[in-house]
Amino acid sequence: MTQAQIIDGKGIAARLRSALRQEVQALQREQGLTPGLAAVLVGENPASQIYVRMKVKACKEVGIYSRQVTLPAATSQEQLLALIAELNHDPQIHGILVQLPLPAGLDERAVLESVRPAKDADGFHPENLGYLLAGYPQVLPCTPAGILKLIDSTGIELVGAQAVVVGRSLIVGKPTALLLLSRHATVTLCHSRTRDLEQVCRRADVLVAATGRPRLITAEMVQPGAVVIDVGVNRMPDRSLVGDVDFEAVRQVAGYLTPVPGGVGPMTIAMLMQNTVAAARRSGAK
Ligand code: GUN
Repeated sequence: MTQAQIIDGKGIAARLRSALRQEVQALQREQGLTPGLAAVLVGENPASQIYVRMKVKACKEVGIYSRQVTLPAATSQEQLLALIAELNHDPQIHGILVQLPLPAGLDERAVLESVRPAKDADGFHPENLGYLLAGYPQVLPCTPAGILKLIDSTGIELVGAQAVVVGRSLIVGKPTALLLLSRHATVTLCHSRTRDLEQVCRRADVLVAATGRPRLITAEMVQPGAVVIDVGVNRMPDRSLVGDVDFEAVRQVAGYLTPVPGGVGPMTIAMLMQNTVAAARRSGAK
């Protein structure tokens, strides 16, 4: 049996950033407009610090102006909302992201709702999630949009395909299910209470794992030849990173498989850049 083809998220993301760089240069030339992204980091979560650093680095590469605002964990709700209000009105800023999770004591929902929907680079505002549900998305959440690009890179026909998403989070599982549905897949959304997860997953032509449970998806749960997308980033006690998929076992069964790291992660950041450029373009439209 041949091994799964590994989907090169890192390479696909690099090509996307390169295309975006061209687009930013054209925007500057033709409209004198430089897209700007504000990245807000509250507290000292080490993983969040790394993610924000990678986002700021990607901005530099693409030619997006970035403003990183780092606040102490003890920041009050009022202080955070005041900062977002300022960014909402800053003409140099077209996209705002608030890195999640927020420290305990801050109201994540109120914070996400305070970002102007037109500047919501993550697509987490309920207004943007509502547009996605309604079938005319304005801003797509970055990870789900990146997942769809990775699936499309395999050439699989989604119309009528069985797609199974494991994990029902607001920022990955639910919007990914909606995007797959919009592409006419038959979608099953599984979660921690799903009965007989193995049998449900085995039906999948496309399997997306976004649970945060290391190596939950074993070879027995995968249909031979399936496209398997691993969204998990789990730090193990020995400091190694593993996904939600048992990579070595599943690669013997799947047709296509994303690695961790180097699969979904770089795509999330590339889609954030794309959302920021699109927001700048919309702001400049006459
Ligand atoms: N935390 C985990 N994923 C994300 C993401 O895509 N954006 C933000 N802002 N925070 C996150």
